Amino acid sequence: MQGYGWPTTGTSKRPSLVSMCSVALHETPDIGPPHDTANRTVNCSSSPGPRVRVAACWLTSWNRAASGPTIVCAQAGEVNTGVFDDLGAVADAVEGTGAWLHVDGAFGLWAAAAPALRHLLAGSERADSWATDAHKWLNVPYDCGIAFCAPPDAHRASMTAQAAYYVRDPDAIREPIDWTPEHSRRARAIPVYAALRQLGRSGVADLVERSCAHARRFATGVRELPGCEVLNDVVLNQVLFRFADDATTTGALAAVQAGGEAWMSGTEWDGRPAIRLSVSSWRTTERDVDRAVAAFAAALA
Ligand SMILES: Cc1ncc(COP(=O)(O)O)c(C=O)c1O
Repeated sequence: MQGYGWPTTGTSKRPSLVSMCSVALHETPDIGPPHDTANRTVNCSSSPGPRVRVAACWLTSWNRAASGPTIVCAQAGEVNTGVFDDLGAVADAVEGTGAWLHVDGAFGLWAAAAPALRHLLAGSERADSWATDAHKWLNVPYDCGIAFCAPPDAHRASMTAQAAYYVRDPDAIREPIDWTPEHSRRARAIPVYAALRQLGRSGVADLVERSCAHARRFATGVRELPGCEVLNDVVLNQVLFRFADDATTTGALAAVQAGGEAWMSGTEWDGRPAIRLSVSSWRTTERDVDRAVAAFAAALA
């Protein structure tokens, strides 16, 4: 922002931003803080392959001077497939352009804790900011979102607020009001801290790796069912699948949801109904996974 001569304090005074992201990006980055009419999203194609390779097209037609401040929003863990943008390639494309690189890692950023999975995040260390949720994999109550910003001055400048009645501690090392958009909030960090303390480094790694192993087990099981197609490469904790025709897909999902053996949501993929399993509870066991597969088998029978 500074590079464009724009005010850096407060989000409401910011100019229009260009945001670039893959079409499969979660819709939240497009809601964002105050938008103005000039806000644009440059959508680029993505695919359900092992990696969403979108970096190359993002910046080729982009004119920095004409566009103004630009955020490139890459994704770690797409909601349907769990796939990761090729973050190293995205970082290469962004480097030297002056654009801000953000990684939406709502659940995918947790893969960094698991030795077997952290390669998926290679390149994320070159981003300007990350966002993730503790209320997904850590199972703490909503709404424990976490933002990380590499340049702390930019982070503070965009969030800080001044008012005559604010009581500030002159000796405080860090005033919470300077770092978040909310002035009044509960102590969300406490359950997150407690969960991390209880699990420890190896506990988080185990939680993530176990959930992903359950997802792979489910994919192996459900693939054996008549007409089932698993649509994604199960790289994380998501399984995207459908049956031979749309009526069978929606009917089987409705039967499983109503039966109470397992719950997962429906989605749309390539314009057709699909089913999206997301394993994120520490309580899920292999037996639960097998019961979920059996519930689909019963629904198809
Ligand atoms: C990839 C991704 N980004 C963003 C979000 C939004 O997170 P929240 O609902 O915590 O704002 C989600 C939630 O499912 C998500 O999966």
